[in-house]
Amino acid sequence: MSTDRQSSPPTPAATPAGVDAVVADNNRHDSLRPLAWQGNALRVLDQRRLPVDVAYLDCSTAGQVAQAITDLAVRGAPAIGIAGAYGVVLAAQAALAAGDEDPAALDPAFDLLERARPTAVNLAWALARMRAEARRVGRIDPVGLLALAQTIQADDLAANRRMGDLGAALIEPGSGVLTHCNTGSLATAGFGTALGVVRAAWAQQRLSAVFASETRPWLQGARLTAWELQQDHIPVSLIVDSAGAHLMSTGRVQWLVVGADRIAANGDTANKIGTLQLAIAARHHGVRVMVVAPSSTVDLAMADGAGIDIELRDGAEVTHLGGQPTAAAVTAWNPVFDVTPATLIDAIVTEHGVVRPPFGPGLRAAPAGR
Ligand code: MRU
Repeated sequence: MSTDRQSSPPTPAATPAGVDAVVADNNRHDSLRPLAWQGNALRVLDQRRLPVDVAYLDCSTAGQVAQAITDLAVRGAPAIGIAGAYGVVLAAQAALAAGDEDPAALDPAFDLLERARPTAVNLAWALARMRAEARRVGRIDPVGLLALAQTIQADDLAANRRMGDLGAALIEPGSGVLTHCNTGSLATAGFGTALGVVRAAWAQQRLSAVFASETRPWLQGARLTAWELQQDHIPVSLIVDSAGAHLMSTGRVQWLVVGADRIAANGDTANKIGTLQLAIAARHHGVRVMVVAPSSTVDLAMADGAGIDIELRDGAEVTHLGGQPTAAAVTAWNPVFDVTPATLIDAIVTEHGVVRPPFGPGLRAAPAGR
């Protein structure tokens, strides 16, 4: 896997011709892309190094893509699904180069990629689509698989823009919002889910203030969300994770807007650790909770949140920062997601519309990710 450093931010997203003012405004606040297929490799914006370095990894094997997902070089539910799909393309190229045309030759790569991270269903969802396509064709066809990976990526961007408009419409002008983790362009094909709603609401001049929580231990809020909003000219105030309830008590935020890694059939939502305590605080303070996620995050096979596999990561992520100890020499318990019960959520926004409680019927009625 090769690395590449660059001092300037990634290429701005192109503005399609003939767009109306709102779309133009959205584009003004949407300049980052975490994944690009270049030549015969997947170029990954290395999120471990942001905001200090804008650097890239060029992944040319499925194993390198799986490692980039496990190591959080690429992270965020939709983004790891897209990366996984490109990982399958790389495996297909390698198999064909070795003279193997049997789709079963891809099975080890599917297994490797699927094991890279457990909680976000988008990874398994994207791999299932790629596997179905490989089986349908009946032989290894990297060109067809590449086209599908690119479709998954393009559909995610379109879904995010749609959700941005749907979610922004729920936010009364003059509102403040709090968001947690990073759900933006960096976590998706582009534009973002919850952060896409923030982008759209900002472009529509609905927001009085945007707050982002640091998101210990990996600091997705401090390192990624704050940087991403800064790149896109949206003012943001960073808070420590433990300031969320106090912020709500001051009346400065009317919505908690978050993404999701897996939404169960009843609306229970797995998301970044800390979402649950923010949702509990929000209910106490009359702050509404909006979950924003594409239908590829909805897992109708999961009846409720109790069955969701919560990833446990190395305790060193809690006790160390940049290799330096920040705690006494003890062990740490490091679950990186939690489950917010559906009863604490006011609205779930997918690209198909806004679903209100009880969520079951609305989630079942919307087409699942294609
Ligand atoms: O561990 P991460 O950084 O992959 O966790 C990301 C989150 O929890 C996001 O909120 C979620 O994936 C939605 S991203 C649009």
